[in-house]
Amino acid sequence: MKDLLRTADLSREDVDLLLSTAADFARDPLQARSALANRTVAIYMTKPSTRTRLASETAVAHLGGTPIFIRGDDLQLGRGETISDTAKIISGFASALIVRTFAQSDVDELGTAASIPVINALTDDDHPTQLLADWLTIRETFGENIAGRKFTYLGDGNNMSHAWLTMGAIMGAHVVAATPAGKWAPNPGVVAQAQAIAKQTGGKVEVIHDAEEAARGASVLYTDVWISMGDPESERAEKMRVLAPFAVGSQLMDITAKDSIFMHCLPAHRGEEVSAEVIDGPRSVVWREALHRRTTIQSLLFHLLRGEIEGRG
Ligand code: CP
Ligand code: NVA
Repeated sequence: MKDLLRTADLSREDVDLLLSTAADFARDPLQARSALANRTVAIYMTKPSTRTRLASETAVAHLGGTPIFIRGDDLQLGRGETISDTAKIISGFASALIVRTFAQSDVDELGTAASIPVINALTDDDHPTQLLADWLTIRETFGENIAGRKFTYLGDGNNMSHAWLTMGAIMGAHVVAATPAGKWAPNPGVVAQAQAIAKQTGGKVEVIHDAEEAARGASVLYTDVWISMGDPESERAEKMRVLAPFAVGSQLMDITAKDSIFMHCLPAHRGEEVSAEVIDGPRSVVWREALHRRTTIQSLLFHLLRGEIEGRG
């Protein structure tokens, strides 16, 4: 597999390899310090980023390469140059392209036109690199035997909910998304695909609309912001009202499994999708989860550039 464009592209074997190498990089970040020696990685973002940008630039540096950060409006793309021409040019200068933008189809097109690996660093539909860090955190906490455990996402049926359900299915986990019904539920096509993957892996994928049912006995409660980058401001008030029952507070954490953890991709809005008491409390693993962004992106770059990611086929 040349690129990582979508979470669903990864096989269980790929994820195992990526997480195992990420754990190695955590022990010694410089153990592959020449992998990208004298090479560059372009990081193109048309949306803001704190973690993904810092993690990507640091990961490239630890592999001995030089990151070239390109802000959305810096390129001639904004003045009508095509995605395909842009991809050809970037391929001539850089060894990989990490891209964050709105439309998934733009990232797909970059992948097709570029001769170098293209990595999706978040689109409106997906966030595959986040899920690598999330599953490294889950593995560290619960080990590889996750039978009988339930992994619950609560809130907006957005890119994170899609990635959560899809990666859970790949890992053979029982994953649940508790979201409002209708407009802010996960995309039915994504849910159907995750269910099809779960059929092969022994996982279970559920979308429900009751926060308490989803939280009861869960090993993980995961949430994300209610207003994502690019969401229309005109929907804010309605969305806040509809999502309110899915806020993660102590009353929901209290009905989870005894050894449960709280996760969040960040940025967080305390008092909206999560209470300060929970995210700053003893069950929260959000800082460790955020730091895992670096080693998982480092691992992904390392293996993609060596042609060692097989894909789900
Ligand atoms: N979790 C995440 O992707 O954070 P950033 O938007 O800060 O990169
Ligand atoms: N759903 C959020 C995730 C941020 C990491 C967004 O797309 O803005």
